[in-house]
Amino acid sequence: MDITQEIKRLARDKNAIILAHNYQIDEIQDIADFSGDSLELSQIAAKNDAAMIVFCGVHFMAESASILSPQKKVIIPDPTAGCPMADMVEAEDVIDLKKQHPGAMVITYINSTAAVKAHSDVICTSSNALRIVERVDADEIIFLPDRNLGSYVQRFTKKKIILWKGFCPTHEKFTPEELRAVREKNPGAVVMVHPECRPEVIDLADEVLSTGQMVNFVQKTDKRKIIVGTEIGMIHKLKCVAPHIEYIPASASFICPNMKKTNLQVLLNALQKEETVVSVAQDIRDRAKKALDRMLELSY
Ligand code: 13P
Ligand code: SF4
Repeated sequence: MDITQEIKRLARDKNAIILAHNYQIDEIQDIADFSGDSLELSQIAAKNDAAMIVFCGVHFMAESASILSPQKKVIIPDPTAGCPMADMVEAEDVIDLKKQHPGAMVITYINSTAAVKAHSDVICTSSNALRIVERVDADEIIFLPDRNLGSYVQRFTKKKIILWKGFCPTHEKFTPEELRAVREKNPGAVVMVHPECRPEVIDLADEVLSTGQMVNFVQKTDKRKIIVGTEIGMIHKLKCVAPHIEYIPASASFICPNMKKTNLQVLLNALQKEETVVSVAQDIRDRAKKALDRMLELSY
C-alpha cells in the first residue's frame, strides 16, 4: 500500500480528520480533509465531530484546536513546528500592559501561546482583525503580538491601538526593494501581500489579504497574473482553486521553515503512534477558550 493510501486508511479507522494550513507542502495540502487559513481551521476544529484532529501546521494552531475541542485528541505531527512570532510575547508582558492601560481591551492574534490567550479578552486572525477591533466595546486596544498586523488595522479604525513589538521573521524579511524588482519584471501583475508584511511593503501592494482572503480573491478576479507576497506554500492552494492564473512568488526565500517540517512520512508516523498529543492545562485552557469563543462569535 502506498503512503497516501495508508494515511487515509489510518485516518478513517481512527475517526481522525487531517487539517492543513495553506502554507503546508503540496502533498500535505492534497491529503488533508480541509486546508485553509487560521480562522477557517479553528472553525472546523470547533465544530466537527471526529475523535481525533491531526493538525498539519504550527504549534499554536494545534493548541487552539485543542482548546476549542478539549474532548478530542489533537495531534501535531512534528512538535518542534513552532511559530517564532507566538513566542515574542509572554503572559507577564500582557499583565504589565494591562496595568499600564487599565481601560484597554486585549485583542491577541491567534499566533500566540495559550498562556497569552488566557490573559486576553478576544483572539483574532488576520482575516477578522479589523472586524474584531471594531466590534469590541472599547476605544483603546492592546494588540499583540504582531506589530505589522496591528499597524495595518490602525489604518482603518479610529480606535487607539497599542502595539507590541512581535513580528513574523518570514514576512519581515521581504523588503520593498524586492517587491519593486519583482513588479518591474512583471508589468501589469497584481501584487497581493499578507498583513504580516512590513508597512513599507504594504504601502506598495494592490491587495492586503489573509491567506483565506487570497483564495477568495483569485476566484473572483479577472486578472491573469498575480505576485504572491506570502509564504510559498500558498501558491499550490491558489493553483488548485484558480489554475487559469499565473502566480509569481514575490521572493524565492518566502519560506516558513516550521511550516515545512511536516511531510507524508512525518504525518504517517503521527497517525500510527498517535503522537504528539497537544494538551493545555485546564485553568489556562478555560480562560483561553473564552477568548477564542468570543472571536468565533464576533467573526460572523
Ligand atoms: P492566515 O490566518 O492568513 O492563514 O495566517 C497565518 C499565518 O501564520 C501567517 O503567517
Ligand atoms: Fe509564524 Fe510567520 Fe510561520 Fe506564520 S509564516 S507560522 S507567522 S513564522
